[in-house]
Amino acid sequence: MDPQSSAPYLDAIAAYGSRGSGRMHVPGHKGGPGADPGLRAAIGERALLMDVPQGIYGVDLGVDIAPQLRAEQLAAEAYGASRSWFLTNGATQGNHALALALAPPGRTVVVQRNSHASVVDGLVLSGGRPQFVAPAYDDAIGIAHTVEPATLDDTLSQTPEASAVFVVSPTYFGVSADIPALAEVAHRHGCALVVDQSWGPHFGFHPDVPESALRQGADAVLTSTHKMAGSLTQSAILHAGLDTRIDIAAVDRAIRLVRSTSPNSLLLASLDGARRQLAVHGEPLLDRTLRGLVELLGRIDRSPGLEVVGPTLKGSPGVHDVDPLKVVIDVRGTGSTGYAIGQALGAWHDVHPELATDTAVLLVLGPAERPDDLAMVGLAMERTAARIVEEVEAGKAQIDEDDVPRIVEPLIAPQSETVIPPRDAFLGEAEAIPLADAVGRISAESIAGYPPGIPALLPGERITPAVVEHFRALLEAGARLHGAHDPTLGTITVVR
Ligand SMILES: Cc1ncc(COP(=O)(O)O)c(C=O)c1O
Repeated sequence: MDPQSSAPYLDAIAAYGSRGSGRMHVPGHKGGPGADPGLRAAIGERALLMDVPQGIYGVDLGVDIAPQLRAEQLAAEAYGASRSWFLTNGATQGNHALALALAPPGRTVVVQRNSHASVVDGLVLSGGRPQFVAPAYDDAIGIAHTVEPATLDDTLSQTPEASAVFVVSPTYFGVSADIPALAEVAHRHGCALVVDQSWGPHFGFHPDVPESALRQGADAVLTSTHKMAGSLTQSAILHAGLDTRIDIAAVDRAIRLVRSTSPNSLLLASLDGARRQLAVHGEPLLDRTLRGLVELLGRIDRSPGLEVVGPTLKGSPGVHDVDPLKVVIDVRGTGSTGYAIGQALGAWHDVHPELATDTAVLLVLGPAERPDDLAMVGLAMERTAARIVEEVEAGKAQIDEDDVPRIVEPLIAPQSETVIPPRDAFLGEAEAIPLADAVGRISAESIAGYPPGIPALLPGERITPAVVEHFRALLEAGARLHGAHDPTLGTITVVR
């Protein structure tokens, strides 16, 4: 039998859960009887029976090889890694661990400016110093793409002390980077390449989805398995490349530092199952999804004012490849906004997109969609667009334009100078001062405007007139400010 057809950890806890053992251990719900009946009815007795701690005889102990370790080995084989670690605190935990392992105090690492907040949070934990590199930005649709190899080359030439590079591929919108070229550049400058592939756990499992960064020379790759594959929310996998430059023992130690001593068995088991599903059935399931996608795209194509932008982006700056499971729809042709279309889809058809901005709507597909479901979504899109266009033409748009946050071009170029490491800024003495007085001071907080969610200011950066101007523009445009202790930005927290 193909070893990938087995799921040793899932099987071990399912067996323990079903054999009526005397559960003289935590958790206190004891597999069901101690749980609130409402919870029991909602999630089912089987889930409670399989909620077991580590160190159970017959599960983790008294066996030749611990099933969790075997499950991680199978994940490493399936993904083409030298080592894989199951994470129970999301890809966030992976970024924290990687920062701790690769960016100790005083070490400089190059970081894509629009990385997930957990990378800079990891540097707050570790004491490392970021040198930011800007991704390519598409101002027509207001979306940041990936880092271009030439841009990375320039940044690394100016940062000879850097020892690792952290990039994101694919982006939230499904755009993937030229990883072989980024790996070549990083390695030529003596750096390890870390790829946050959180949005691409399915990459490499079908010829029509992009290849996995692990098979393209990355040294460490993070897959947020719960986002785009079949594991439970909060589960993820961190992988080390086959020929990795990262110190596996250091990563192992760091992962233990940032994990609970009671990792959730259901999350771990779900990773084992998701890996099996992708490894054994991934290609046919993705095949079916991609066939269903053709019908969905056809419907969107026939919808007035809607245009799918993903495939047309290929080849533009920062766009090496595009994930077909992310359907980015430019809605400007309807005369309305992504917010209006998103709200109408929910209200009229109970269909809920992943994200709506003023110009676009993003639909996220899983690797195992049913064609009928996708056809139903396509029909809902078509009808919604037609009705919205009619309403716009009749002058009764669904949404008050004053309520709609507009996109403010983000500060993706490293405009701000990192004066002190994020850790010193975040943990040091701080004070809240009026925004008007903040120019020249060092920020103690991380602030991003939604939309588009790209951090404009990070702890340790000097606040420039451009940053203050940018915040004013965000507030004026009605954007929400994420991370700011005072969301109205009457005051901002700076290092004292
Ligand atoms: C690129 C990226 N990395 C990491 C994360 C964190 O993932 P998780 O929610 O699994 O902790 C996210 C979450 O959205 C993300 O977009």
